[in-house]
Amino acid sequence: MGSRILSARHRAKIMGAEEAASLINHGDTIGMSGFTGSGYPKAVPSALAARIRTKHARGEDFRINVWTGASTGPELNGALAQANAIGFRLPYQSDPDCRKAINTGMVQYLDLHLGNVAAMARAGCLGKLDWAIIEVVKVLQDGRLVPSTSVGNNQLWLDLAQRVILEVNSWHPEALEGLHDIPTYSDNISCVPPIPISRPGHRIGSPYLTCPAEKIAAVVITNTPDRNTPFSKPDKTSQSIAAHIIDFLQHEIHNGRLPAHLLPLQTGVGNIANAVMAGFADAGFERLSAYTEVIQDSMLELILCGIIRQASATAFSLSPDMAGNMPVIARKIRGSVVLRPQDISNHPEVIRRLRCIAINAMIEADIYGNVNSTCVMGSYMQNGIGGSADFARNASLSFFVSPSTINNGTISCIVPMTPHVDHSDHDVQIIVTEQGIADLRGLAPVQRARRIITACAHPDYRPALHDYLERALRYSYGKHIPQLLDEALMWHRRWMTTGTMMPT
Ligand code: COA
Repeated sequence: MGSRILSARHRAKIMGAEEAASLINHGDTIGMSGFTGSGYPKAVPSALAARIRTKHARGEDFRINVWTGASTGPELNGALAQANAIGFRLPYQSDPDCRKAINTGMVQYLDLHLGNVAAMARAGCLGKLDWAIIEVVKVLQDGRLVPSTSVGNNQLWLDLAQRVILEVNSWHPEALEGLHDIPTYSDNISCVPPIPISRPGHRIGSPYLTCPAEKIAAVVITNTPDRNTPFSKPDKTSQSIAAHIIDFLQHEIHNGRLPAHLLPLQTGVGNIANAVMAGFADAGFERLSAYTEVIQDSMLELILCGIIRQASATAFSLSPDMAGNMPVIARKIRGSVVLRPQDISNHPEVIRRLRCIAINAMIEADIYGNVNSTCVMGSYMQNGIGGSADFARNASLSFFVSPSTINNGTISCIVPMTPHVDHSDHDVQIIVTEQGIADLRGLAPVQRARRIITACAHPDYRPALHDYLERALRYSYGKHIPQLLDEALMWHRRWMTTGTMMPT
């Protein structure tokens, strides 16, 4: 026990998860490690949830505010949401219980661009942070900390929190040491120097997190896996989407607009993004690179087989099988993978300099190319914006992908108007569904609409979309982005009242 804790000062703070959880008070704000199901603390949040349940059973008030890197896992977000323990949450989540609590109004949720959290928190705009609970792999003799499978906002929380609880998780291999790159942050708020990253593999900091030993209130030893869900096998729809993107990229190479090894790739979260990366494996690309937010299974496979030579991210987001192989994988990817804080992985300056190719999934797009990534029917929070806008706005090519319809064809993912916009038409260059690809670059709004309907909408919905556009061209107040305001959101209303968006 404690062989991963080489510092005597830290060893003196070892205690059980329940004892550590008992240090936290009602109303405290806690910055937790964790990003897309990786590297989140597991024991203390679960113990805290149990403690809060007991308090609630006795009729006592007890709720906490939870800040993270992004989504975490069932032992954190899930357990705390089930215990009705979260009053406020930022900046991204994807847990079903937490989603339910947000959408019933029990949790106040601040959905932030993931690349912006650090600047806002360091400037004091988010309020004070009482605790950081951070999972690490190891504590070195001098107190430096080896991060685990995500970096996210960990250094930020360690810097800002009054007190710190460490979970040292021996489930993660020690071979992760050396993979991370944590820069030193300047306190100068008037002038921030350029970030000297001009290749995805560039390192600008140290592999370790730091925290003054006197801040550390507890060290808890764990041996628990990251609990991510497996990816579904790429289906016909996601394979078609991947094929359209790959054809498009090959066409761009052929026309001299992209180099043969492309530009650094960013792919979003979820099954489609995973399937798109899998499509690159068979397409004969070589010497690729990635400057992205998360490394999912299929990207890791491309790294392991040498197709992707350099990859920078802030976290892994792996299936249980892939995560279980990390002891072997961590050695193999040394030298080709860098994990960075999320304000660096998602920094507009670097994304713009590297001219990234961004590929993100969406909930729906409207005929003009406004994209909704977060709010189903305009009001129900699915997950959050994540880093999609950090990349979409600053990439040299920005794709948004989704099936053309879902729910057995009752929902069209191409609609007259999205009831919520995360990415405006100004930031959306290329829309892809299994039906086809709409390259919107250089097109004015009405031209964009014709291209999106023809290339991307499902054939069953195309006539109704064309009909909407033609009538809007006749009757709209303005003809620049023609809309029929009485009708534009009828598709969503119809689905909510009749169960289908299809006009009768
Ligand atoms: N209307 C209503 N619901 C829709 C919808 C639409 N047009 N499109 C998708 N959904 C629902 C699905 O029904 C599903 O619901 P369920 O969880 O109740 O089953 C859910 O959204 C997820 O859809 P799924 O088809 O499983 O896609 P996914 O796993 O690829 O996720 C997003 C798609 C858009 C939700 C996801 O990519 C996301 O959260 N994106 C925003 C953050 C982001 O882009 N991060 C990456 C930046 S690096």
